[in-house]
Amino acid sequence: PPTKGNNGDSIQVVSNPASIPALVNKQNKLPDSYKPNDLVSTDIPFISSATREKRKMRQEAAHAVTQLFADAKAQGITLLGVSGYRSHATQTTLFDYYVSRDGYEKARTYSALPGTSEHETGLAIDVTGGNGKCAAEDCFGGTPEALWLDEHAAEYGFIIRYPQGKESITGYQYEPWHLRYVGKEIALEIMNADITLEEYFNEVPVNN
Ligand code: DAL
Ligand code: ZN
Repeated sequence: PPTKGNNGDSIQVVSNPASIPALVNKQNKLPDSYKPNDLVSTDIPFISSATREKRKMRQEAAHAVTQLFADAKAQGITLLGVSGYRSHATQTTLFDYYVSRDGYEKARTYSALPGTSEHETGLAIDVTGGNGKCAAEDCFGGTPEALWLDEHAAEYGFIIRYPQGKESITGYQYEPWHLRYVGKEIALEIMNADITLEEYFNEVPVNN
């Protein structure tokens, strides 16, 4: 049964965590100890500080991001990975660090509680431009790389998961760097309609 979260909203356990478009957010958490079983090392370049774990994604997403990076490069846009898969333990360390730095309330606006991060699904990746600056920082917004992603990520099955102006729906500040793989068809529908994954699932029943 749903349990109560800190904000009073009920939190459900995701019943289909391995489903490619699975909705994982502040109200829908992964089952305890969920770990995707088809993680692979991506072959895209990452910022040098990225651990081996963070260079992994689920197989289908890893293939898609490789193609995205290659096509971007061919169009003069160089990208670097920042953070792909994060284990529950890694997300816990990261969230705790942000809480110690900025306090719990502030941390919640940009970092997911362990168990509720898309990075734990192996289907999300943070990226930045080839110079490695603005890695998961606001200054990435408005760069040629961010604009290219906004225009083309969906062609590879990725959505800009936390868009500007949708903070009250997603629960997070604008993150132009956070790409979530949902598959090409759904990504195109979401990006063309300027909606979020939350809105997509309200309009299209999962079992449709
Ligand atoms: N920054 C996103 C919300 C995460 O921590 O998964
Ligand atoms: Zn992210």
